[in-house]
Amino acid sequence: VTADLPVPPVLPLAWQGDAEDGTLALLDQTLLPGRELVLLRRTTAEVVDDIRRLAVRGAPLLGLAGAYGLVLAAREARDDAQLRAKADSLARARPTAVNLARAVKGALADARVRSAPPPRRGAVLLEIARRLEAEERAACDAIARHGALALGGLRRVLTHCNAGALVTPGLGTALAPLYALHHRGARIHVWVDETRPLLQGLRLTAYELGKAGVPHAVLADGAAAGLMRRGLVDAAIVGADRVCANGDVVNKVGTYGVALACRHHGVPFFVAAPRSTFDAATPTGAEVEIEERVGDGTRYLAPGTAVADSPTTEPAFDVTPAALVSAFVTPLGTFAPTELPPALFA
Ligand code: MRU
Repeated sequence: VTADLPVPPVLPLAWQGDAEDGTLALLDQTLLPGRELVLLRRTTAEVVDDIRRLAVRGAPLLGLAGAYGLVLAAREARDDAQLRAKADSLARARPTAVNLARAVKGALADARVRSAPPPRRGAVLLEIARRLEAEERAACDAIARHGALALGGLRRVLTHCNAGALVTPGLGTALAPLYALHHRGARIHVWVDETRPLLQGLRLTAYELGKAGVPHAVLADGAAAGLMRRGLVDAAIVGADRVCANGDVVNKVGTYGVALACRHHGVPFFVAAPRSTFDAATPTGAEVEIEERVGDGTRYLAPGTAVADSPTTEPAFDVTPAALVSAFVTPLGTFAPTELPPALFA
């Protein structure tokens, strides 16, 4: 922690102990804001289930859950085939955020893991997970500083979904610059899209901004364009689950609509992301598997609000074309979509 940045308002994940008998502590994000329950996980299957049911969520945190989940997998696996199968179940637990599969596959392919004798593998995997955690924390700090500069005097800032301390080991991605500015005394006001259907804005972004004392107001997703029309939004900033090679952004469903409304109203639209989210292997957004969470909430606001047999379509993410992004805020600096440096994709 340095003087220009605050302490993160919440810690969503922590490994406790050594590789042989440590546990992965996860804040159950399905219960927030009502209940702060920390889950202590000792098996791969538990972590896979936590990822699937969104107890742990958000691109960078999914990567970390995968990396620490592998430590548990190494402890359980009796041979290489079992370790690979368990790694596979972690990597596939959610498809859209590139961070998860990348962290799991990257750790498993690491030369030190491959050359370690099986009893040492867990310890090496734990080292790799801890390093990833430190890198992601440092990325948050860099994004906080670059983003604070990029926002300049823009004070009324809209965000969609939750890309804050709850999805990283630090200050977050999209929210990090806002925490930095607030900490330095700027009169920041955050417009929080509620983020239908699973309400990551209403439940999670409002929770962590509230803990940090950052002034904010939650709005229905459908209200954002109208606020822009009334001149009440100076900028928008969101996170990303994947940034494709051409700069297309995959993020929580509804992000595309925010970007379109921003373009129409001349409001700058920023995307904040660490290097682990930039994916050179996916040329454009059209190639990304968009997770469908059928039955996860579009239909039911409260008992009796939906016609029981009306079909729904429930994409969890959408693609915002690169051309709608004013700038990417990254640990390496702030870049126009046409000027993303290759180092971000390395
Ligand atoms: O389905 P979720 O809650 O995992 O979706 C999260 C998002 O879409 C975030 O905006 C994204 O992961 C970026 S988090 C830095």
